[in-house]
Amino acid sequence: MKAPLIVAIDGPSGVGKTTTSKLVAHALNLPHIDTGAMYRAIGLAATRAGIDVRDADALETLASNTHIEFVPGEPPRVMLDGEDITALIRTPEISMAASHVSAVPAVRRVLVRLQKELGRRNGGVLEGRDIGTKVFPQTPHKFFLTADPRVRAQRRHAELAAKGTPVPFETVLAEALQRDEQDSTRADSPLSYDETYTVIDTAGLSIDEVVKAIVRAVRTRVP
Ligand code: DC
Repeated sequence: MKAPLIVAIDGPSGVGKTTTSKLVAHALNLPHIDTGAMYRAIGLAATRAGIDVRDADALETLASNTHIEFVPGEPPRVMLDGEDITALIRTPEISMAASHVSAVPAVRRVLVRLQKELGRRNGGVLEGRDIGTKVFPQTPHKFFLTADPRVRAQRRHAELAAKGTPVPFETVLAEALQRDEQDSTRADSPLSYDETYTVIDTAGLSIDEVVKAIVRAVRTRVP
């Protein structure tokens, strides 16, 4: 049996991973798996339960007893113990909670297992921080998207305003920098890439150009 096709798209927040991954998945006819949404689900569960997002023991118990289901589709749904929480996990508060809980090894263990299961089932375009380094290190299709933090903050700022939940630019930038710092300095699976990745600076590129570059690169490598 042919191994399922896995495309890893890693990079910091606000770099355009979600839009890009969705379009790449569509072009390659693969499920789109947004792993950040899973960390957000645990962030939401912890916030609701009043758990300190730095309390590793309580988070370990929470992660082991929480059932997260990810239903690929258009749009993909994230279920937390049977409740559809897709719309609840995009607030700045949950972004920060997700960043904190994602530093806890036990949380990562539970979610990485789920991500591997999902990927092995039907393949997929997985977006995250550690897909090509930890979740599917064996895939030859690894892309790391980058962009200057100000460019990323501008995009996030516009996105939040368009959604009717505007946040001042300086606040968005400060939060982006703080999350970058947390995500790249944590001990377990920090945001990073190596020589097996293709690095794409998205600052001067349209989404369409980034998508085309990734799809072309995958197709040239797939026999
Ligand atoms: O991609 P995102 O902004 O939805 O991710 C939310 C948080 O989860 C982010 O702070 C980093 C973390 N994360 C992670 O540690 N590993 C992943 N594979 C995906 C996200």
